[in-house]
Amino acid sequence: MPTTFAPINPPPRLLMGPGPINADPRVLRAMSAQLLGQYDPAFRENMRETQVLFRQIFVTENKWTLLIDGTSRAGIEAILVSLIIPGDVVLVPVFGRFGHLLCEIASRCGADVRTIETEWGTVFTPEAVEAAIVQHRPKLLAICQGDTSTTMCQPLDRIGKICRAHGVISYVDATASICGNALPVDAWQLDAVSVGLQKCLGGPSGVSPITFTDAVAARLKERWHIEAGIQPKGFVPGTGPRIPSNYFDLAMIMAYWETGLNHHTEATSMLYCARECARIVLEEGLTESIERHRIGSEAMMAGLRAMGLRLFGDLPNKMLNVTGVYIPKEVDGEAVRRTLLLDFGIEIGTSFGPLVGVIWRIGNMGYNSRKEFILQTLACVAAALRLHGMTLPSDGVAEAHAVYKAAGQTAA
Ligand SMILES: Cc1ncc(COP(=O)(O)O)c(C=O)c1O
Repeated sequence: MPTTFAPINPPPRLLMGPGPINADPRVLRAMSAQLLGQYDPAFRENMRETQVLFRQIFVTENKWTLLIDGTSRAGIEAILVSLIIPGDVVLVPVFGRFGHLLCEIASRCGADVRTIETEWGTVFTPEAVEAAIVQHRPKLLAICQGDTSTTMCQPLDRIGKICRAHGVISYVDATASICGNALPVDAWQLDAVSVGLQKCLGGPSGVSPITFTDAVAARLKERWHIEAGIQPKGFVPGTGPRIPSNYFDLAMIMAYWETGLNHHTEATSMLYCARECARIVLEEGLTESIERHRIGSEAMMAGLRAMGLRLFGDLPNKMLNVTGVYIPKEVDGEAVRRTLLLDFGIEIGTSFGPLVGVIWRIGNMGYNSRKEFILQTLACVAAALRLHGMTLPSDGVAEAHAVYKAAGQTAA
């Protein structure tokens, strides 16, 4: 007898951690649209439209703005494995777990990885990054914008320019920060950027939008190679070493997007999804989206402080879409999270590395960065803490509500 199980029927949950978050219902609807063949002119048009939309999300004129199928680290891997030639020096300023991930991926690509580190909860000055560039003379600088593990947002407005001045390629992982924090790629002179949908873009994880300059594209084309089974007659490969991954070979992926070279089978529903995520943000306005996250962050911080809780990190450099809060000594952090999830249906985040058991991370991201969900989360966090025996001066709801009221966004 085959076992079929019941249909998928997830329990209702409000995902207020550091991502993923609840997808915008419009995105879920777009994902259920019927599939097309990937060389159908209608689908090729959807691909071109998606590129136009993501150029606006990245605030770039980069022709090379496209999607990598896979979770956000697919975008990271595609850029790093396609750019790094074994032995290349790659500099990674590490300010949290995702800086370590960049080191790990770069070292698997054969890079000679050099790091500078700063305490979790802080960011780098542009001067510190420049000094490290002068010392290590890297080919590539790889850095996160928002490292969700620490809730910090690295200022990048000068970093791209510094890299260009020193002839270094800059790569930014903005998975967690895009659309909730400013990232004007061209104005900041960033050479390559990858992101994900599962944070402020309001979608599920599963595709990674990326953008890079013509100068980066020229380097990739030096490694141009086509699989034997589909090589045209007289094919001449690039002079550089072949990119060691087939799936993440950006030179072939560029040709797939530009001329329809046969590469992977398209994750069609994810392209529909990415297109709808971008449409939603751009309909609201990129500036307005960032402002909504800023107000959400203010409200979240006001509410948590009013409960008497202490916020984590260098707050002027905090991401606008996630807040770190010290777990009060009086409670067992994991037990409180369990109560929140199983009795109130709200998920908040635990932490990594040195912050395990020290802070919780509470998100206000994408579709969930809205007044109703932030007020509900604060009320329930306070209720859970009280159930675990704490006495609080306030549940933080009125204080958070006041932030929305000051912004003219309340009914009362
Ligand atoms: C800054 C950052 N980079 C990379 C990732 C990895 O993304 P994924 O799990 O989608 O591969 C995450 C996930 O949370 C992230 O926050």
